[in-house]
Amino acid sequence: MSLLVLSGSVRRDSFHTKLANAAAEELGRQGQAHTVLNLADFPLPLYDGDLETQGLPANAKHLRKLFAEHDGFVIANPEYNGSITPLLKNVLDWVSRKDADSQQFEPYAGKTALLLSTSPGSLAGQRALRHTREILTSLGAIVLPQHVAVPVAHQAFSPEGKLTDAKQLQALSTQVGELGKLTAKLAA
Ligand SMILES: Cc1cc2nc3c(=O)[nH]c(=O)nc-3n(C[C@H](O)[C@H](O)[C@H](O)COP(=O)(O)O)c2cc1C
Repeated sequence: MSLLVLSGSVRRDSFHTKLANAAAEELGRQGQAHTVLNLADFPLPLYDGDLETQGLPANAKHLRKLFAEHDGFVIANPEYNGSITPLLKNVLDWVSRKDADSQQFEPYAGKTALLLSTSPGSLAGQRALRHTREILTSLGAIVLPQHVAVPVAHQAFSPEGKLTDAKQLQALSTQVGELGKLTAKLAA
């Protein structure tokens, strides 16, 4: 059983990449196998049906296979104007498409997901999580009822990028553990 950890932002100093890394560290501490995916390594054009007709981009196929090889996801996703980032939505859309080479890979159905967010604001980007939850659910994933949302992002991480608040770390640890338990149950 293995989990895929990703951030919906590829900004150099992204708070969500820090949050995703904190989750990955916690998964490691709990002995849970996982892969950290950096979406900057797999750039994709904005989805367009005409592009798809010319053939799925290699990165779309690669990501579809990578998603399929994992049993669940930890997704740290920024809120842009109350919703999911175009980067993450675009990746989710491309990965949902298949061709003759990639049709045997199931990227979403029956997989689990834990959602994380943070924001410089006090609402911690939680409005976007509702949309991400809806999208993943419609793709057949099972999203944990609880998410982890960290407010005031610019004060939440140490210069080394670690979460500094013990309660937030504990919440992350608990939910990462819950994701592991649910994923193992489904795999069994
Ligand atoms: C286009 C855009 C829209 C944004 N809208 C929101 C928003 O609705 N709510 C919020 O809390 N922050 C919003 N922000 C601020 C982001 O939360 C902030 O830029 C955050 O650092 C992005 O995540 P990152 O650090 O992982 O890149 C927005 C930022 C951008 C660029």
